[in-house]
Amino acid sequence: MWTRSCLFALPIASFAAAPTDAELLKFVKDRAALERVTPKPVEMTPAVSTRCNIDALLIRRTGDHSGAASLVFANEPAVLPLFDPWGKFPEGSLLLKEKLGKQDHKTELFTGMWKREAGFFPEANDWEFFTVDGAASKIVERGKLPRCASCHEDFKKGDQVSKEYILPAQLTGGRIVLHSSQAKVTGEKLRYENEEKKNTLGYWTNPGDWASWSFEVSRPGTYDIHVWQGCGKDNGGSEVAFTTAEQTATFTVEDTGHFQNFKERIIGRVTFKAPGPQTLEVRPRSKKGAAVMDLRQVMLTPVAGNQENPER
Ligand code: HEC
Repeated sequence: MWTRSCLFALPIASFAAAPTDAELLKFVKDRAALERVTPKPVEMTPAVSTRCNIDALLIRRTGDHSGAASLVFANEPAVLPLFDPWGKFPEGSLLLKEKLGKQDHKTELFTGMWKREAGFFPEANDWEFFTVDGAASKIVERGKLPRCASCHEDFKKGDQVSKEYILPAQLTGGRIVLHSSQAKVTGEKLRYENEEKKNTLGYWTNPGDWASWSFEVSRPGTYDIHVWQGCGKDNGGSEVAFTTAEQTATFTVEDTGHFQNFKERIIGRVTFKAPGPQTLEVRPRSKKGAAVMDLRQVMLTPVAGNQENPER
């Protein structure tokens, strides 16, 4: 058995470094197999839609790009870094933006970024840029495209990825990613702490403070609740309730040695009976130490075999 997996491991590793044109095009054609991170097309500003695309030739020159919209797709390694404002993308990450026409909503073109090996294009954090025609029939250009890099280098915090369209949302594969940076906070002290090292809901010193996320459920079913929690030495033991769809899962905060030492835990399950808007609330029931916990992220993942109307 081990010889087989070794044989398979080699081509996959080298493939991650640099896909051929044919492989890149296949990702674009088969994008339904990627995670779509935008539930609905996202409006682009006219300045971006004219510059973040294939030059002149392939798109109709109406002179008016306002109202153009796009969808954004990511492969598996790129999904969680997209939802984290500070997230860095590992080699082999793929991001794809599909631009839709203003009137007909037909695909006009694709722009993409593929994270290459360290040292490939240091100015652009080693992203390779590419553009593909609307029919996904050919790669128009790819490589160290200065036109793309000159603008994307401004998105410093997010590894040169804009992440502007990110919202708490259900992905096409079923996951619902709720990052602390997207939480609504109610109370006195609790807040999202923006610094890279923190990047968490923190200052949970008042147990009456609470956080929530609103999102749209498109696939009813049962979900595991994953929580990334940190808690300083000897401050563990607080009780916290997670409530959504009129169901509550409670858990006891674990001492992780440091508030920003985050540990992923599965703390319970929830069933969404119907599609529609939902809110998830996190409310402490007790505070045992200086603060309840730091909370970086919550994620709901589909429990296998418990999903209705999967989109793919
Ligand atoms: C004028 C600045 C600008 C230029 C030039 C630009 N982009 Fe973008 N790009 C953006 C912005 C802003 C977004 C966020 C989504 C949106 O508004 O469409 C974005 C989004 C993207 C995304 C989705 C990932 C992300 O960063 O959020 C990809 C992929 C992408 N651009 C590729 C390219 C490629 C390839 C080129 C060159 C052909 C390019 N861009 C040129 C500004 C730019």
